[in-house]
Amino acid sequence: MIDSWSQPVTVEEMYGDWDYEAAVAALDRSLEPRSATTIFDVVGSLGVGPGDTVLDIGGREGQHALLMVERFGCRAVSVDPVRENNERGRELVAEAEHGHLVELRLGTIEQIPAEAGDFQLIFARDMLGHIEDLVPALAECRRVLVPGGHMVIFEVFATPMLYPEELQSLCRDVATVPARLSVADFEANVAAAGFTVEGLEVLGSEYVEASQEAGTAPNYLLQVSRLRRARESLIGELGEMPYRVMYGNALWSIYRLIGKLESRIYVLRRDDG
Ligand SMILES: C[S@@+](CC[C@H](N)C(=O)[O-])C[C@H]1O[C@@H](n2cnc3c(N)ncnc32)[C@H](O)[C@@H]1O
Repeated sequence: MIDSWSQPVTVEEMYGDWDYEAAVAALDRSLEPRSATTIFDVVGSLGVGPGDTVLDIGGREGQHALLMVERFGCRAVSVDPVRENNERGRELVAEAEHGHLVELRLGTIEQIPAEAGDFQLIFARDMLGHIEDLVPALAECRRVLVPGGHMVIFEVFATPMLYPEELQSLCRDVATVPARLSVADFEANVAAAGFTVEGLEVLGSEYVEASQEAGTAPNYLLQVSRLRRARESLIGELGEMPYRVMYGNALWSIYRLIGKLESRIYVLRRDDG
């Protein structure tokens, strides 16, 4: 589904009396998109502070755990199943000023290495897309959360502009479960696992727009063009799997920019009746 105006543009209209330079200038103006750090404002708004322990599930190398302990004075446990993430994370944490407040554990969301009620808040950023069965995974989060505790989730979802065939091929290259991109499916799973949606921010394309404006992200369009034109030589140079992941990640970001995917932040509360 793309914008469908009722009338086609005529040649006269297209090349006629309107100011192209003014249009380009209008599109050069920033819309002040929210950047990826705003998720920590959401965490802060839930009152996390000293004495609290946050679980960063799928926390990769513990970067966000470090950021939260620095900002909120809490403790954090980062759980990730990939050994390389854990090893790189140990070096990062050892070098960081507040590293003593972060613990890295190998583990999965399906079997979190923690006791019941260990955490005041769970942070799950951009990782639920990898999970096959979401209800048991969220129920496991519920187990390790204090009664009434919150989960802050950042996730990317499909919009009606994403065609079903695109969904399948895109997900294959980024180890993502296609069903995880459905908002309806997600919200039903959340309720089934014993959580209530307490907050929702639809960010749409803002984070990717912000990173493009800041120059902190690659030029994904150029990457895809090069990946397509030099397919065989890049596969030879990088290997097939890195080639696919780079292609999938770049396409993922382009789809976020053009509205086939949208990002959202959910705040869930453990439902205790
Ligand atoms: C896109 S990365 C996001 C990492 C980090 N949360 C961030 O926002 O930068 C997805 C992460 O999920 C982790 N992951 C994949 N399957 C998982 C599982 N079953 N349980 C916990 N983490 C998982 C991966 O190892 C990876 O670090």
